[in-house]
Amino acid sequence: MAKILVVYYSRTGHTRSVAMELAARCDADVEEIRDMKTKRHGPFGYFRCAREALGKHLPPIEPATADAKSYDLVILGTPVWASHMASPMRSYLQANAGKLARVGSFCTQGGSGGPKVLAELADLAGKRALATLLLNESDIKKGRYAERLDAFVAALLQELNRRLAAPH
Ligand SMILES: Cc1cc2nc3c(=O)[nH]c(=O)nc-3n(C[C@H](O)[C@H](O)[C@H](O)COP(=O)(O)O)c2cc1C
Repeated sequence: MAKILVVYYSRTGHTRSVAMELAARCDADVEEIRDMKTKRHGPFGYFRCAREALGKHLPPIEPATADAKSYDLVILGTPVWASHMASPMRSYLQANAGKLARVGSFCTQGGSGGPKVLAELADLAGKRALATLLLNESDIKKGRYAERLDAFVAALLQELNRRLAAPH
């Protein structure tokens, strides 16, 4: 059985909901990226997030609890912030990209910027994703994304099994 880890950052819960359902469908472990001290609530917190994302800042995050190196697949999930990945995900990738054997990725967004963020994730991870998923927050709030999540999981597992079966 392949070992899968879902690593996500979430400020308001959308990415967390998707990450949890994804982990349940893939029988995966979960790692939540947590800020060490950065405050992100309220209007000041919002602008801090946007500024950090635009400036490609690397805010301090709690050390990872799971060793990404021991997983066959790591699925990365981030919200879109100002058409960039959330800055704590950037910090995670800066510390852990070298440990990722294979990646999948997903983002949640208000309505735009996601494709650019998926490309940014691949770039920082140093790997093209086995499969990607982009969800709008309106669909997450209404719980209208099960089919797309199922298709994402199927694509991920099919590609993962193909790669694991391929001779090195
Ligand atoms: C600082 C900031 C910037 C954002 N910028 C964008 C954006 O450029 N495009 C977009 O579609 N949504 C944008 N959003 C909305 C979030 O991507 C969306 O609400 C997401 O689902 C939040 O995920 P979370 O609940 O896991 O934190 C932004 C949100 C924040 C806090």
